[in-house]
Amino acid sequence: MKKVGVAILGLGVVGGGTYKILRDHAEAYRTNHKLDITIECVLEQRRERIAELGIADDVVCSSIAEVVSNPDVDIVVEVMGGVDPARSYVLAALKAGKSVVTSNKELYCKYGYELEETAKKHNCGLFYEATCVGGVPIIRTLLDNLQGNEISSIMGIINGTTNYVLTKMSSEGMSYEDALSRAQSLGFAEKDPASDVEGYDAVYKLSILSSLAFHTKITYDRIYREGINNVSPVDIKFGRQLGYVMKLLAIAKNTHSGIEVRVHPAFIRADHPLSSVIDNYNAVYLSGDCVGEFMLYGLGAGEYPTASAVVGDIIYCASHLNYNYSPFCNTEHCTAKISDNFESSYYIRVEAEDKSGVLSKIASVLSRQGISVARVVQDDAGKGAVPMILVTHPTRENSVKKAVEEINESSSGAKVMSIIRVVN
Ligand code: HSE
Repeated sequence: MKKVGVAILGLGVVGGGTYKILRDHAEAYRTNHKLDITIECVLEQRRERIAELGIADDVVCSSIAEVVSNPDVDIVVEVMGGVDPARSYVLAALKAGKSVVTSNKELYCKYGYELEETAKKHNCGLFYEATCVGGVPIIRTLLDNLQGNEISSIMGIINGTTNYVLTKMSSEGMSYEDALSRAQSLGFAEKDPASDVEGYDAVYKLSILSSLAFHTKITYDRIYREGINNVSPVDIKFGRQLGYVMKLLAIAKNTHSGIEVRVHPAFIRADHPLSSVIDNYNAVYLSGDCVGEFMLYGLGAGEYPTASAVVGDIIYCASHLNYNYSPFCNTEHCTAKISDNFESSYYIRVEAEDKSGVLSKIASVLSRQGISVARVVQDDAGKGAVPMILVTHPTRENSVKKAVEEINESSSGAKVMSIIRVVN
């Protein structure tokens, strides 16, 4: 039986879940894995949380120095979130020769280079399955199972909060504000919901996943980002009439003109596998040259799903002496060629005066930009300005931006109210 000592930094939602899983499954790990995993210490200041979890006082530490100087601690689990003080705590643990398991996507995304270099230097493991898509085992799938492939694209619903909000707005007609506050009360939204709704959470995850998939380094600041905070119920409704479902998608594609990396609301066809991913569920849809297309699906947030990934890493770390570090070119800076002028179809909603010649003016602007229109729908419900929806064939982002500018600046009698990318 191998004895393994664990320290947990932070007893929030994920820390508490990790504590409970290790406590409740201890016997199974002894039987199945021949691992005697003991929680040697926890670092948490909130006395009421410690009492709520029934943790004995002698297990509670008051400083990181106390944790890393404990010779019985082999693995430090960082589930605090944020960069400070998590970064200095993780570095202190690695420098003391402790392996680290983290769920902290922002930390790994921004400082993964520094952490991995430190881990290698001190011959420690660094595990981060829980940073991306909670209980869905995407990191190890990329690190191990798919190494024989050249991956050409990743498309994912990788934020549970925004998927929940869009699902409720779309299927129950709930307001954005009500859906968001319900997501917060269910416990899977971030403390600061801006990270979810403005797309930062998904950007951090996509930075990690696309770097792994394409064996390069794609820093989060190179990823195009648009959140769901400006999504209009009107577009969700028109999209449904056209057979589309709106999702916040994270997309990474390895194309001839460079790597496309973006997070934004998008329409997908109602028969696409990702359209059935509802509520707070997540999914990652991948394409590899050998494996073909496949999808991993499950809960990407919450106490037990995320703690499941943390505990999986603890067991993996405890059972493997040779750590496998990320197989991407591990530099601090983005070395990949990023293409911002990506190709997509577009849904364009304009408010147009309902009179002769307006449509032809719009059509000639689009034609000048080489944009071909696949569908046009005009809502005849109102008088004066009426909504008109145009769906384009695949075209380039820059052409659409120029066309929108030209329509809005001209006296065409039309104004573009929204554009949404459509995934074919
Ligand atoms: N707030 C995140 C989500 C949870 O809603 O998916 C973990 O990243």
